[in-house]
Amino acid sequence: MPETPAEHTDRSAVRSLLRLWPYVRPIRLRLFSAAFVAVLASCLGLVIPLVLKWMVDGPVAGRDPGGVWLGALYLLLLGLAEAGLFGLRRWLVARPLAGVEASMRADLYRHMQRLPVAFHDRWPSGQLLSRGTTDLTLLRMFLAFPLTFLFVNATTILVGFVILFDQAWSLGLVLLAPAVPLVILCSLFETKYSVAARGAQDQVGDLTTVVEESVLGIRIVKGFGRHRSQALAFHALSRRLRGTELVKARLLAGIWALITTLPELAIGAALVLGTVQVADGALSAGTLVAFLSTALALRWPVESIGFLLAMSQESATATERYFEVMDVAQERDADGDGRARVSDEPGMVFEGVEFRYPDADPASAPVLARVDLRVRPGETMALVGATGSGKTTLTALVPRLHEVTAGRITLDGEDIAGMARPRLRELVSVAFEEPTLFSATVGENVLMGAEGAGEEELRRALSVAQADFVHDLPHGLDTQVGEQGLSLSGGQRQRLALARAVVGRPRFLVLDDPLSALDVHTETRVEAALRQVLARTTAVVVAHRPSTVMLADRVALLSGGRISAVGTHQELLRTSAEYAWLMSGATEAGAGQGSSAAEDATAEEGSTR
Ligand SMILES: Nc1ncnc2c1ncn2[C@@H]1O[C@H](COP(=O)(O)OP(=O)(O)O)[C@@H](O)[C@H]1O
Ligand SMILES: [Mg+2]
Repeated sequence: MPETPAEHTDRSAVRSLLRLWPYVRPIRLRLFSAAFVAVLASCLGLVIPLVLKWMVDGPVAGRDPGGVWLGALYLLLLGLAEAGLFGLRRWLVARPLAGVEASMRADLYRHMQRLPVAFHDRWPSGQLLSRGTTDLTLLRMFLAFPLTFLFVNATTILVGFVILFDQAWSLGLVLLAPAVPLVILCSLFETKYSVAARGAQDQVGDLTTVVEESVLGIRIVKGFGRHRSQALAFHALSRRLRGTELVKARLLAGIWALITTLPELAIGAALVLGTVQVADGALSAGTLVAFLSTALALRWPVESIGFLLAMSQESATATERYFEVMDVAQERDADGDGRARVSDEPGMVFEGVEFRYPDADPASAPVLARVDLRVRPGETMALVGATGSGKTTLTALVPRLHEVTAGRITLDGEDIAGMARPRLRELVSVAFEEPTLFSATVGENVLMGAEGAGEEELRRALSVAQADFVHDLPHGLDTQVGEQGLSLSGGQRQRLALARAVVGRPRFLVLDDPLSALDVHTETRVEAALRQVLARTTAVVVAHRPSTVMLADRVALLSGGRISAVGTHQELLRTSAEYAWLMSGATEAGAGQGSSAAEDATAEEGSTR
């Protein structure tokens, strides 16, 4: 199962939580006033025992019903004021904290969009999902509750003990006795709980990954009857999570038991001692009543500390997990205007391009060792190579989805590494083997390819891609395509992706086998239309079939990590045995209706990724 990729350092919970400050800063006034209000409300509760003492020693001892009624009125007012203040606290923090959560989530999303593709190759999506959802919700709850109440309850306990000592210092000492063992136990608990909390949160991430994969891959799961194995994987993970949650629950139960029992015993002891003192006349009955009710009023602040600490620990873990993603460096980007020419050579030029995947074994040979290729302006270059030879990798380097390890790629003499990304995106359009569509309308999916393209451009792009089928969809261009466009056929998706690539009339076009899922007739029509577009652009088209190769002016053969031959289709057929071999299988397929060889090639390729 996927482990969390980032190794997490052993930070203290407080250090982790302090990293939230930039987000909390804007609402600090609200948060502080809410804490102040809560302290006030909580201390108001401590006045109640004092009123009781006044009632017992005064009106009750003096048999004065009027005084008792007055005392009762005071108690009622105190209770109401306490409740009102706690309500005010909630009102003060609710909205700003929802804002903090939203802005942290927005930052995470923005950051994830800017992380290099290599990061997303490495991180399971469920880990990212769970950090953006459960972890952030935990953080909001932490800011709303434990953060304030750890402070409020500590203050209340402090004030309470001052009152207790003021009433009867000897009894106060009895109550204070369990404090030392409790503090030690709490810190032990903290350490253990933090390990369990981290485990549980990571396991939620793994579980999310499995759920997501089986939802997105539901066709494969059903098609291959993999329900059972998927369910087993899910059960194994959820059992593991359940185990971790039980560990957490046991730890919490243990500390809770101690935190409730020890003070309870102390209160019992104080009660016995106090009663003896009252019998001896050393203490007034009212004082004992006040002392005991203060002690009882402190029970909740003391007991709550266990789970407040637990929640804080979980939040510290959530903060760590959040910043593990946020700390990953974003894609480098040139801040220059991108006008820096490094050569006068027009067109698309690959010079000594070397590339190795970041997570590849350092001892292995790079995917691309030394690629030298010149595509003249307006020329269409077909890129041919065996499965796994690095064609897709090479095409991904042009829009800088990955950065070259060595060498450079220039567009009309400008090094793409020095170009600001928006400008690069404007110059280059891409269509990948796997046509990805988003849950949006057909029109929106295509227009994603160009900012500000209009109706006219959209229609032209659709006709180039022979995607006129969209007009027959229930709502035409406004038809919503399902998640990942799975409601459309593979060929339909491919044509929409192609339309998206050409809609912005890019100067450079990179197409990774864009016609593989089309039947021969549609392919011929797309090619006829595409020819006109290609006439005006500088393009690299990855091709498997001779029919696609025919679109190109020249062909480059990628083999052994470099371009081993360049020439026209006919030339290469004559001079390169590998090229002839690659094309021979495909020729039969292209001629026959079954076209199984080409499809096998694509299917196989899909599985290598
Ligand atoms: N994200 C990745 N991480 C590591 N290796 C990869 C990644 N993507 C592809 N590869 C490897 O790079 C090689 C070239 O793959 P690819 O460019 O997809 O080949 P092609 O498109 O020519 O079939 C393959 O050996 C593949 O295993
Ligand atoms: Mg490929």
